Amino acid sequence: MRVGLAGLGRFGKLHLAVLERLAGVDLVAVCDPRPDEVAAVTSRNNAVAGFSDFESMLDASDLGAVFIVTPEPLHPEQALAAISRGIAAFVEKPLAMTAAEGERISSAAQAADVPLQVGFVLRFDVQHALLKSQIARGDLGAVVSLRTKRNVSKAWFPGFGDRAHPIHETAIHDLDLLLWYAASPVTRVQAIERNLSGMRYPDGCWALLEFASGAVGIVETSWFIPAGAPANVVTPTWRGTIDAEIEVVGQTGTGRIRLLDAPLSLWTPDYTAMPETGLWPEIAGAVAGALREEDAHFIARVRGRLPESTASVAAAVAGLRIAEAVIASAQSGESVEISLPDSVSF
Ligand SMILES: NC(=O)c1ccc[n+]([C@@H]2O[C@H](COP(=O)([O-])OP(=O)(O)OC[C@H]3O[C@@H](n4cnc5c(N)ncnc54)[C@H](O)[C@@H]3O)[C@@H](O)[C@H]2O)c1
Repeated sequence: MRVGLAGLGRFGKLHLAVLERLAGVDLVAVCDPRPDEVAAVTSRNNAVAGFSDFESMLDASDLGAVFIVTPEPLHPEQALAAISRGIAAFVEKPLAMTAAEGERISSAAQAADVPLQVGFVLRFDVQHALLKSQIARGDLGAVVSLRTKRNVSKAWFPGFGDRAHPIHETAIHDLDLLLWYAASPVTRVQAIERNLSGMRYPDGCWALLEFASGAVGIVETSWFIPAGAPANVVTPTWRGTIDAEIEVVGQTGTGRIRLLDAPLSLWTPDYTAMPETGLWPEIAGAVAGALREEDAHFIARVRGRLPESTASVAAAVAGLRIAEAVIASAQSGESVEISLPDSVSF
């Protein structure tokens, strides 16, 4: 399959390392307005054409699928540009910055019968998927309470503080996981945010969610982790800490995941690290783990080998509705109700 990749930043480079080695994938085009990043790929692989403009790449490359790993505000127009040309679109999270835009992309993909997947990589992580399967088979009983934390390195915030609200940038993963685990829509939220950095978006956000099932969710996310914290993201271009936890309490059992509990420790002259090994471990230039599974899953769907996606687009759109309500609540100080969808499979 002829595949293109847009965005060669921190995360685009990880997808690049996967796509260059994924069986059945012919990476034929990359796109980024930074010529040095494009040249770094095309100069070592002359089968890949380089572009600075997204739509020019789509029009010139006869693609079966495109991976969109660009800054968040660009996702809607790029996803719609791919879908309108019948090109399957993998869009990194968040799918969009508003629920209305997310619905528009989802409807366009359905109407055109074009595969669409949002980059919720945690659904492809062994631990998170195992927790889902334990919940689904009833080992924890009915879900009563869910708590998530996703606190990340302060040093990364300047790259994101003018780009996206933390509920869209970091906690959007948790909203997706909470919908997946609770298997119920959220009907009401109450939230608080803080802006200590003075950038466009706040650097901390906390929310209380009420699910239609009666379950209660607590979400915490902030960008306050100091440089001295043990790193668990350790790639050649990207180092820092994601201190993430999730706990699901059911009527008969509890499930818990802590991202900083990785068994591997590294002490070097420059840093102390406990590299996370499940999401995107980089080994001799190759990237494995959940990111590889996620990309392979999307390609299998585009080939028609899988009827349904593990990463539900309906859940991605429902997550955007919750995110919007969280921001409205944080700004007004009031709780915000969310109207129930007709029927959604999370
Ligand atoms: N799933 C995850 O866990 C995860 C982790 C990190 C980032 N992400 C997502 O990946 C996406 C990219 O994040 P990042 O950290 O790599 O950002 P980044 O700023 O490091 O990289 C973005 C790249 O996109 C390029 N770009 C800008 N405009 C473009 C355009 N019109 N067409 C093509 N490329 C363009 C930039 O030049 C840059 O190289 C974001 O949506 C982010 O939320 C997901």
